[in-house]
Amino acid sequence: MPGTRGPVPIPLHINGGQRDLTAEILEAVDQEAEVGTSTKFPQIPQAEIKAALDRLASRSMVEYDTKDREEVALTKEGEEIASAGSHEYKVWDAVRQAGRLSLKDPSLAGANAKIGQGNAFKLKWVKKDGDALVSLTDSVQDATREQLQCAKENRTFQDPKVQKDFMKRKLVVPQKVISYVARKGPKWAMEMPVEVTDLTAEMIADGSWQTANWKPYNYKAEGAQLSGGAFHPLMKVRQEFREIFFNMGFTEMPTQRFVDTGFWNFDTLFVPQQHPARDLQDTFYVSDPPEAGPPGPDPATDEALAQMDDQDEQDENDSAPASAATRAKDISSKLDYQQYFNNVRSVHQDGAFGSIGYRYPYNDAETKRLVLRTHTTAVSAYVLHRLAANPRPCRYFSIDRVFRNETVDATHLAEFHQIEGVIADFGLTLGGLQAFLKRFFRKIGVPDLKFKPAYNPYTEPSMEVYAWHAGLNKLVEIGNSGMFRPEMLQAMGLPEDLRCYGFGLSLERPTMIKYGISNIRELLGHKVDLGFIEGNPAVRLDRE
Ligand code: PHE
Repeated sequence: MPGTRGPVPIPLHINGGQRDLTAEILEAVDQEAEVGTSTKFPQIPQAEIKAALDRLASRSMVEYDTKDREEVALTKEGEEIASAGSHEYKVWDAVRQAGRLSLKDPSLAGANAKIGQGNAFKLKWVKKDGDALVSLTDSVQDATREQLQCAKENRTFQDPKVQKDFMKRKLVVPQKVISYVARKGPKWAMEMPVEVTDLTAEMIADGSWQTANWKPYNYKAEGAQLSGGAFHPLMKVRQEFREIFFNMGFTEMPTQRFVDTGFWNFDTLFVPQQHPARDLQDTFYVSDPPEAGPPGPDPATDEALAQMDDQDEQDENDSAPASAATRAKDISSKLDYQQYFNNVRSVHQDGAFGSIGYRYPYNDAETKRLVLRTHTTAVSAYVLHRLAANPRPCRYFSIDRVFRNETVDATHLAEFHQIEGVIADFGLTLGGLQAFLKRFFRKIGVPDLKFKPAYNPYTEPSMEVYAWHAGLNKLVEIGNSGMFRPEMLQAMGLPEDLRCYGFGLSLERPTMIKYGISNIRELLGHKVDLGFIEGNPAVRLDRE
């Protein structure tokens, strides 16, 4: 019958044969009014006995009490003495066998031999004779050994004073022993009754539910621990930021490629090829494969963007919308990557689009080097170039990993998450960027911003963004921003009057502040406590 439980034996392997402990306990309780488990089942571990008793007690077939008892157990040294004799016995025995034993004899060296010598003197078993030991007796009674043998057998000492002395000498240690006393319970039976756990349609129809032996609820049973996945605090804060961006009309850039080229990561952003940021000390280079191909479209990125771009236009369109893949191809067919590459080279080498350039020989090999991207601005550059196919006002953001070859300390790792936004529109001004940043940071609970002129090769003007930190009582840098340089945007083929804001901040800093973490290694890496990840509540930024 479904929902019923029959007798469930606990298989137990003893001496190679199978024994059912539950049945053995029932037999013992049937024969004796009180069954002490430590004497009845001395070989069986207490945990197994308890499991069998609980099984019977939950059906009220037996009842049991738990008994705590203190026993003594021999330490390793105690065991050695019990089997081979005390230290004093060993000293006396060595002296007796040698007749005279020099004090410098190696058998008298060592801590135990020193103790043994002292005791043998006290017991008048040996004495000093010049620089040697001689025996004073032909036979001795090794009381220490005998007492230990006795304690080993009885697991106790008759005289508590002796026990204390042996404990002080670290020859025995006290040990708590749990055992059980079992007797018949109110529903005593020699067989496990079948207990019904589920009510079925048949039982209602034939009325057998009224007489069925229902298994009682066990309200003391602990519920099974539910274990599910848990979001990392960084991912929770990232989600908060994503929602803010989406609410402000931003589209998310696909940033799943961690490896990019020198071209997108540096050259398009006018980081000169000799710039220290491109050094091995600052950037991780990938050696295999040794180089990338020439700049070109990335179909995966294009398709993901096409999927998100112009959703509204697509929805309004009566005719069947073209697939994202088709639209992506359509856009990339309007872009000339070779021309773009030539433009970037011209700006670096000779100057173009109103810029006098850096005027150094541009090295094509540098553009093809593969790097672990040092900022997500590499992706922003790709997306802005793609915008040249259909220049229009738009807003993009990304929150993902970037890598820098930095010395790891309490606040720096070799990788972190960058939050980045770009806004393209006609006739943008620096004041508009400041107003936007104020609005953005107000949404994450940072009210007053200060701006400090800064330098980025790709933005002019550039501004570091500062906010007042109440805890540290000073202004702290919370981001970097600027307006992308015209020679960067025009080289992409974007129209002259289309301007673009850019800004970036780390995801780690606000996360550490929100979760009260002072060491970044508690947040990321192999030292992270999984309990911290699983136990933390969702974070809510103090939004307006
Ligand atoms: N890439 C910059 C950084 O690494 C952030 C930034 C992005 C600054 C866009 C200006 C414009 O900090």
